[in-house]
Amino acid sequence: MRVLSGIQPSGALHIGNYCGAIRQYIALQEGNDAFYFVANYHALTSVRDAELLRRYVFDVLVDLLSLGIDPEHATLFVQSDVHETTELAWLLTSVTPMGWLEKCVSYKDKVQQGLPAEHGLFAYPVLQAADILLYDADVVPVGQDQKQHLEITRDIAERFNHVYGDVFRLPKPYILDQVAVVPGIDGRKMSKSYQNTIEIFDEPAVIRKKCKKIVTDSTPVEAPKNPDTCPLFGLYKLFAPAGDLAEVERRYREGGMGYGEMKTRLADAIIEHFAVARERRAEWVAHPTRVAEVRAAAAERARRSARIVLDRARVACGMD
Ligand code: ADP
Ligand code: TRP
Repeated sequence: MRVLSGIQPSGALHIGNYCGAIRQYIALQEGNDAFYFVANYHALTSVRDAELLRRYVFDVLVDLLSLGIDPEHATLFVQSDVHETTELAWLLTSVTPMGWLEKCVSYKDKVQQGLPAEHGLFAYPVLQAADILLYDADVVPVGQDQKQHLEITRDIAERFNHVYGDVFRLPKPYILDQVAVVPGIDGRKMSKSYQNTIEIFDEPAVIRKKCKKIVTDSTPVEAPKNPDTCPLFGLYKLFAPAGDLAEVERRYREGGMGYGEMKTRLADAIIEHFAVARERRAEWVAHPTRVAEVRAAAAERARRSARIVLDRARVACGMD
């Protein structure tokens, strides 16, 4: 099965990205043909400083490698190393009705957050469709917020196939309910654009400070608490050491356990969870040429695969 996903280099990766997407990337690289990429064409909609964008691309590559994407198992490449992407995006643009893009919530959200209403942002889902269809992806692991983009990808593929014959494979989203939306420290969806993130590679002291800031209600220490509806517990559950979870949950329900203790436990669990990755990260950062080698080898593999599908699409619409 071909698995494919992309992540934007628009800032440091956070634990929402990890639980919503990266954890699944790592699990799915075993036994599948996995392609993961750094979506730097997409990041042009928000990062306008060339040097900064280069750095973010490097950082995301290093983060993914440190977290456990294994270049022996998965093809980890950079979107702009495969020029075929933009050509396919244009072929797809030509069969995409305006109305499909107009109804996209992510465009409306981003404009509301202050991003300029530019064509690149509006056409973002078409470029994403090109990313996915170019590799004959079967399964696309993402967080809930990408569901609509996956639906549009399928719609565009069906439309193209209907007009030009059977060219594209229809991909399926892979979204885990349990981690569909990881809350940020203010209770809204954790997102770089809300400045409510806990970054995966924040210094341990920063992780502790951010955990302390997580918004909670005013239930007193002695009162029983409902772990099923408490965002703080929800976060803890994602990182809790297997042996501790049942006991902590029982104490939470019984009462006597305050939010302060819970925040400390959460910070400990997050720091511990990423301890090995943090060490591996220092290794990769010290050897940038190894990162460049991984990138170059992956680009070549990705381009070989992309070329086949692009040629199929070019022939189908008379561009050959
Ligand atoms: P951000 O909202 O911080 O800019 P991205 O849009 O770059 O994050 O998301 C990268 C991946 O991480 C996507 O697959 C997205 O669905 C997932 N993701 C982002 N934030 C969360 C979250 N809070 N909970 C679950 N998944 C998330
Ligand atoms: N739009 C995705 C996000 O913001 C990133 C992305 C670009 C992507 N192309 C993709 C995800 C293709 C999955 C498949 O998170």
